[in-house]
Amino acid sequence: MSATADLVINNGTVVTADTAAPASIAIKDGKIVAVGAADAMPPARQTFDAKGLHVLPGAIDVHVHFREPGYTHKENWGTGTAAAACGGVTTVFEMPNVNPPTGTPEALKLKHELAAEKAFVDFGIYGLLAEDNINQLDKLVDGGVIGFKCFMGNTFGNLPSPSTGAMLEGFEIIARHGYRISLHAETASIIARREGRLKAAGRVDPLAHLAARPAVVAIEAVSRAAVLAEWTGARIHILHVSSADELRPLRDAKARGVDITAETCPHYLLLDSTDYARVGSVIRVNPPVREAFNKGPLWEALMDGTIDMIATDHAPHLPEEKVKDNMWAADCGFPGVEVQMPIMLTEVNAGRMTISDYVRRSATNPAKCWGLYPHKGVLQPGADADIVMVDLARDGEVDDTKLQSQSKITPWHRRKLKGLPLHTLVRGRFVMKDQVLVAAARGWGRSVHSAQRMQAPAPRHTDTTMAAIVVPPKS
Ligand code: NCD
Ligand code: ZN
Repeated sequence: MSATADLVINNGTVVTADTAAPASIAIKDGKIVAVGAADAMPPARQTFDAKGLHVLPGAIDVHVHFREPGYTHKENWGTGTAAAACGGVTTVFEMPNVNPPTGTPEALKLKHELAAEKAFVDFGIYGLLAEDNINQLDKLVDGGVIGFKCFMGNTFGNLPSPSTGAMLEGFEIIARHGYRISLHAETASIIARREGRLKAAGRVDPLAHLAARPAVVAIEAVSRAAVLAEWTGARIHILHVSSADELRPLRDAKARGVDITAETCPHYLLLDSTDYARVGSVIRVNPPVREAFNKGPLWEALMDGTIDMIATDHAPHLPEEKVKDNMWAADCGFPGVEVQMPIMLTEVNAGRMTISDYVRRSATNPAKCWGLYPHKGVLQPGADADIVMVDLARDGEVDDTKLQSQSKITPWHRRKLKGLPLHTLVRGRFVMKDQVLVAAARGWGRSVHSAQRMQAPAPRHTDTTMAAIVVPPKS
């Protein structure tokens, strides 16, 4: 090899979804050009000593809310992606419940501009699938989306959840493109009735939120979404799986051959209903953190592949929007993109999974499910040099006041950590070094939609789609 590399990282333990072994990594023009023994590396303009560190593909968080445009008092593309960079996350997929919602090509274009100007890490942008924008879906594809988001339950931003009829029509259109549709799978009408009754009965305590959204809310929505996906051939992704019982329709659908993937979040794996008293209204999130008996089955599903990946549902709000005496007045969600990796590495240290198990679920599987693999999600020649170096032996503690996010309030405050990300590179450039954000890297992040290579679409029942039936009869 003759060409000079830009950077060689030496002395680390390089981790893939299957292996963890000592190796050096050479980077040129933002891509990995070699992985192997130190003396097999090309000459380099710079070297970096990763002694004692594990070298991982940066995490891909397929579920973040960065609030811009519209709610920039909560977060913006700069602070949200700074949080990602400092959390070892090198690619984020961002959600459409902003103002204006990302449901038209104009709104999508605006978001692309804002993100490109400020992002520290790479990003995909979700288009919205809603009741009233079915005729915009093709145009959103043209404008560059990573996939679509459909809120089956009510959400921040008050986007009305689409009817099953609109969902079917949307799935038919998106199936032709092969893009994945991510679902907030909670059924709005069940929640609305229960919430109304609870409020009428005077319940304002934290656990009233859980009472409004028992697991059947998610079971019904997952099942219905799977039926529509199976019928249309659309690819779907179940966001934030929170309950043991939801796993049954998920497993059934996978067994039937539906192209359905799923994520869970650290708060469903590690918190439970006994935390409501301690944390108070800050724990309010949709779906709710549930009874402790759900956690074991969620871990099992994460390990056996029923749940494909870990995401965060990073949902920033201000402390004054979160801390309320009346649970119904608290905004739903809390930040996660910055703390997911150290929290999960702490579980790796506790023996709940190997470091390779973690990489598969934080980086490799998300890349595969959205057609970004092997550009991303793996450290091998040809891949983007999206790298996080972590110290598995380093102790720490979550400190909400130190978060990059504008939302400095989480249910994790003061949680003990062992295993911290120290350095993050996006396409070969440091965006965090020695746990400090590299301010000059603002604007380095770029959209990944053009690198996306989904498998060929396989739409089904195309003879009965809305597009097929609304043609006038031939005379
Ligand atoms: C999210 C938000 O705040 O945007 N809130 C939440 O409780 N998860 C929306 C969502 O993902 O439902
Ligand atoms: Zn959601």
